[in-house]
Amino acid sequence: MDKCSTERRPLVAAQLCVCPENRPARPADDDFYSFAVAPSGMDEWSVLSETTVTASFDLDTIRAAIPALARCVYLNTGTFGPLPTAVANEIRRVYDRIEQQGTFAPPVFYELEVAGFEAVRRQVAALLHADPAEIALTRNVTDGINIVLHGLDWRPGDQVILTDHEHPSGTVPWLALAERAGVELRWLELTNDPDAIVERFEALLGPRVRLAQLSHVSCLTGLRLPVERLCRLAQEAGVLTLVDGAHAEGQFAVDVSALGCDFYAACGHKWLLGPQGVGMLYVRREHVERLRPAWLGWDVHQTFDRAARAYTLPPTAARFEQSTRAWPLYLAFGKAIEFVQGVGWEAIEARVRDLRRRFVAGLSAVGEVELLSPTESSLGTGLVTVRVAGWPCEALQARLWERHRIVTNVIREFNALRFSLAFFTSEEDLAAALQALAEAVRP
Ligand SMILES: Cc1ncc(COP(=O)(O)O)c(C=O)c1O
Repeated sequence: MDKCSTERRPLVAAQLCVCPENRPARPADDDFYSFAVAPSGMDEWSVLSETTVTASFDLDTIRAAIPALARCVYLNTGTFGPLPTAVANEIRRVYDRIEQQGTFAPPVFYELEVAGFEAVRRQVAALLHADPAEIALTRNVTDGINIVLHGLDWRPGDQVILTDHEHPSGTVPWLALAERAGVELRWLELTNDPDAIVERFEALLGPRVRLAQLSHVSCLTGLRLPVERLCRLAQEAGVLTLVDGAHAEGQFAVDVSALGCDFYAACGHKWLLGPQGVGMLYVRREHVERLRPAWLGWDVHQTFDRAARAYTLPPTAARFEQSTRAWPLYLAFGKAIEFVQGVGWEAIEARVRDLRRRFVAGLSAVGEVELLSPTESSLGTGLVTVRVAGWPCEALQARLWERHRIVTNVIREFNALRFSLAFFTSEEDLAAALQALAEAVRP
């Protein structure tokens, strides 16, 4: 019997097609490991030792399917997720095919541009609970935001609501629009109290507000915004909603119809563990033919009659895509979605909630660490932002990498460090991060 035969593998291993016994061994001569500080005695962080996650969650198998996790303490999925082998293999497979057969050989091109690409569109639609006709496959979140922004007609005096936690990609395009078109920006100040957010939002609504852009999850603190409530208020006021789902998609199940938003922009390269260069934009059906495509070019879905100098666009969100794309990456993105969905949303959410609870408890034991993320678990996500007394954030980030091989990101505006806890994060990762912080606080 094949070593990977499904009968012999535990549930998650079967879904990920990884043989536990085929786990890659750590190369002995790898200098990465000489830096890594093994968490000294898990007892010190006793809060980490209780496990409440379901038995079918096979962490070892999952981690073995993501080789980078054996080489460092990877706590920065909020910037770029680590790449599972299955996803990297798909990139290799497709480029091998291109190399061996030629991109425009009919079977290859058909797989890339038609069958494969459209299959991924269907996967993304299922992920968002949308119709494939409402999905544009983009390169990243920024593409999605700009497609919406440039697809609407703006008049001087129009107003747009933005939260004060939007990423630069969700802020700079609007600042430029304000300069160019006289659009006024109204800022929704976030706090870790959802009722206060809703109240503040309501106070900002008014007859000149045309659109509100809301992060589903704050990239600064990991706060999960009450997006459903905000979208309902916006809809009642006739205001369009564009949700930035960069940190939601892949962390928990997203249902755009339940959210009630008009547009939803997300990417594949963070929590969905896809390659860089793939993203998605949901355009609610009624807006597909109203939103003007910002860029146009060729596309297999459109027609162009050179003699008549005429063209038609598809009646779907595919009209927001154009021209040559990195098709192999989209096919790999399909594998990434399969990988994450194979783990299951319930298991992912439970695991991250559990890790977060234990990490936050461990932080209070470290002391001299200020938690900027919400303490309440229903408001928090796998993004945990902390400020450490006496430490400039970049210096602390560098120390964690150089001494412990811990990968994090900084939130400069808060002089803080952001840790990303994902379903594949281990108890040892948490312990290593807590230990490193404790050492920084009490050198
Ligand atoms: C909330 C948020 N929006 C947008 C972006 C930009 O994403 P992309 O590089 O996919 O355009 C990021 C990137 O980190 C982000 O955190």
